[in-house]
Amino acid sequence: MKEQSFNEWLDALKAKINIVDVVSGYVTLTTKGGRYWACCPFHHEKTPSFTVDEQRGSYYCFGCHVGGDAIKFVMDIENIDFMSAIKILASKVGMQVPEFKSKKQGESVAKKKERLYQLMREAALFYHDCLKSDGGKIARDYLAKRAISKSTATTFGLGYSPDYQGLPSHLKSLGYNELEMIEAGACGQKDGRVFDVMAGRLIVPIIDGMKRVIAFGGRVLTSEKQMKYRNTNDTIIFNKKCEVFGQNLLRQLKLKQAVTSVIMVEGYMDVISLYQAGVYNVVASMGTALNVRQAEIVKRFCGTVYVCYDGDTAGQAATLRSLDIFYGAGLNVKVVSLPDNLDPDEYVRAYGTESFSEQLAKALPLFEYKLRVLAKGYDMGVAEEQGKYVVEAVNILKTLPTPAQTDAYIPLVAKISGLSTDTVRRQLMQGSVFADDGTPKLLTQQQKRKDGKYYKAMRYVLYVLFGGVEGLAFDRDMSLYCDDDEHKKLYDYYRSNADGDISLDDLAELEKEIPEAGEALAEGRKVNDRAAKGYFDDCVRTLENEFVKKQRKMLLKAYSESDSEEEKSRLLAQISAIQKKK
Ligand code: UTP
Ligand code: MN
Repeated sequence: MKEQSFNEWLDALKAKINIVDVVSGYVTLTTKGGRYWACCPFHHEKTPSFTVDEQRGSYYCFGCHVGGDAIKFVMDIENIDFMSAIKILASKVGMQVPEFKSKKQGESVAKKKERLYQLMREAALFYHDCLKSDGGKIARDYLAKRAISKSTATTFGLGYSPDYQGLPSHLKSLGYNELEMIEAGACGQKDGRVFDVMAGRLIVPIIDGMKRVIAFGGRVLTSEKQMKYRNTNDTIIFNKKCEVFGQNLLRQLKLKQAVTSVIMVEGYMDVISLYQAGVYNVVASMGTALNVRQAEIVKRFCGTVYVCYDGDTAGQAATLRSLDIFYGAGLNVKVVSLPDNLDPDEYVRAYGTESFSEQLAKALPLFEYKLRVLAKGYDMGVAEEQGKYVVEAVNILKTLPTPAQTDAYIPLVAKISGLSTDTVRRQLMQGSVFADDGTPKLLTQQQKRKDGKYYKAMRYVLYVLFGGVEGLAFDRDMSLYCDDDEHKKLYDYYRSNADGDISLDDLAELEKEIPEAGEALAEGRKVNDRAAKGYFDDCVRTLENEFVKKQRKMLLKAYSESDSEEEKSRLLAQISAIQKKK
């Protein structure tokens, strides 16, 4: 909680800081062509080379090449550390500096989490024992009715919650206090009494990639009046949107064999049932709306995802969005449509594993699926509608990454619409599909960022800063190069802890809140330690080049807009200086 509020607080501070106000407190800025200039306060000069970019919130000197954000500016000009700079800035904008976690308090957060993990593990064991005991007959009968075997129940650690008081009194006997039970989300509180929120339900433990029990899904056994599933609320160890169910087993599988694709389903029972049927590469998103973070988890296992949602969700906006999120994460997406609105659990029980595999083999590539779903809204017997369909279909095709891929779908659109390939092609020519740099205009932001050199480089630099490579230290300020919000956050975390020791564990911890932390870890692991130094230097160079390119562009623009000869020659000198730097 504390950790997150630090980030939130910092965000709020940054939103209030205006770098022009901050810098003006120390040097006199003049505006030229919508930009701010001054003689550099960090080196001696007579003509201004020091610029402030109000929009990006950064400063840079073309003479001595110092630069960074507002925090860095205050650190440098006052010669103070990050925390002290933050205090000055906060008082400037009238914000109160809260008690930040010291390294010690940070440790206590980690300890607290560790304790909650233990508590949840104990709870899972308790539930599992209850399932096997006399009182668990009702749940065992339910599993039998759904044809879930004993061994499957063991594999997934399924359990049963007998009543409101069993779990809290068991946990109490193990030394956990009520506050911890509530903080872990295992218990609720009413009229001063804690109770098991899962009372009377079949328990499905949710276990993360590190084999820690982080939450439960509880299914009702009897009363249909209650919500069918109840999930543990989000806690400091569980964020529903950022987890997939079945990740732990998928990890185990990956240790044993190559995982070339993952099947994504909606429900717990779909995973359990498919697993029992011998389909092991399966995980669930725990509800229809997919989160980017979940797609990234899948991406870490393999490059292809089979999306196999319940039949009645086909074509629904939430489903289509999920597909786009997978695609945006760089996955090869295939869509499985099971007949008769069956969900995967029902299908595999009715028709068996082989038949399910056949359905997988028949899965449609994402774009074909989209084109076919779209077609359902048009009556191709009517000329007007055929045309409208082609217009919309072409809009879909324009989101493909290359012209070749787009063109490959022309025959299909022609076939579905009943119009000629020529017609489709002509529609495609209307308006350019590709931007100047060759990327499709409609390509999602995410897709673009995943492929960027810049992202890879910054991720690796962060990995090194967090101590990822032994013996490779680096103390240059990187705040100028952090263009991405998440990179900025990670970099600030690093800065705010740079005096204490910072480690990859911090990065792993931050991943819950900031997905880029996970990317940095992944990037770091790709690189062999022996190659680390060279790779790191390349990354820094990439970031510098990227930065220089932007600065050069800015100078050229200022040059073309300037009408003072004196200023033009100064800008020219700066352009050539920065060129040399490159
Ligand atoms: P489903 O209703 O499709 O799940 O919901 P299912 O696994 O097929 O359920 P049964 O047991 O076979 O009837 C898909 C997922 O959505 C979430 C759960 O994670 C569930 O597995 N869900 C569903 C809830 O969180 N609450 C609900 O009330 C229903
Ligand atoms: Mn079901």
